[in-house]
Amino acid sequence: MSQLPIIAIDGPAGAGKSTVTKLVADRLGLLFLDSGAMYRAITWLVLEAQLALDDEPNIALLVDRAKIVLTKDKVVVNDVDVTEAIRTLAVTSKVSTIAALGVVRVALVKQQQEIGRQGGIVAEGRDMCTNVFPQAQVKIFLTASVAERAKRRQQDLRDRGQGDVSLLELEQSIAERDKIDSTREISPLQKAVDAVEIITVRLTIDEVVDAIVAMYRQVANK
Ligand code: DC
Repeated sequence: MSQLPIIAIDGPAGAGKSTVTKLVADRLGLLFLDSGAMYRAITWLVLEAQLALDDEPNIALLVDRAKIVLTKDKVVVNDVDVTEAIRTLAVTSKVSTIAALGVVRVALVKQQQEIGRQGGIVAEGRDMCTNVFPQAQVKIFLTASVAERAKRRQQDLRDRGQGDVSLLELEQSIAERDKIDSTREISPLQKAVDAVEIITVRLTIDEVVDAIVAMYRQVANK
């Protein structure tokens, strides 16, 4: 095998993808790709530039000029550290709309494939298994109910000091994002036919990480 193995992890918002992906990457010494952070960085740029969310020609120009740098714990776009800014409700509430635009997806998918060119990567998002890395040796679909994901998001927002948002509000916004992400025309969120589905409700984070690490070791013979 000329390319190191790739682990692709897809799933809806709040299923625990980021936490699990980071831990798997740490355990196996692999690169970590948070593709959602790239869509969030572009959304942040669109909001900063005060462009209309459907202004595809200008959004295309903005994406072409955008330089996104992802490091282990930072997201930098055009030399601005947006690590915190891309997690605000303002960005979160608009990111699905921006991520549905063809001009945005084509450019970001190209960058993601470039990052994963040599393999040795754990990539998480919505279309990692189905579209970006269809050749991935380990494919996971991580999911949980809307109610469970809303509970986790609420805790996450509290931990980030971003206030107390009601569960009902979070359930509605998660359901709305699920709907946009899974019904858009280009690469909608769906479980790849050859992905292993893991429902994260009754499992601890460690159990999920162990299961994925074991799958990787099997294919990588490590
Ligand atoms: O994983 P996240 O919540 O940070 O992702 C933010 C948004 O980006 C999500 O609502 C859908 C979009 N996204 C996407 O369309 N494709 C990806 N590969 C990753 C994220």
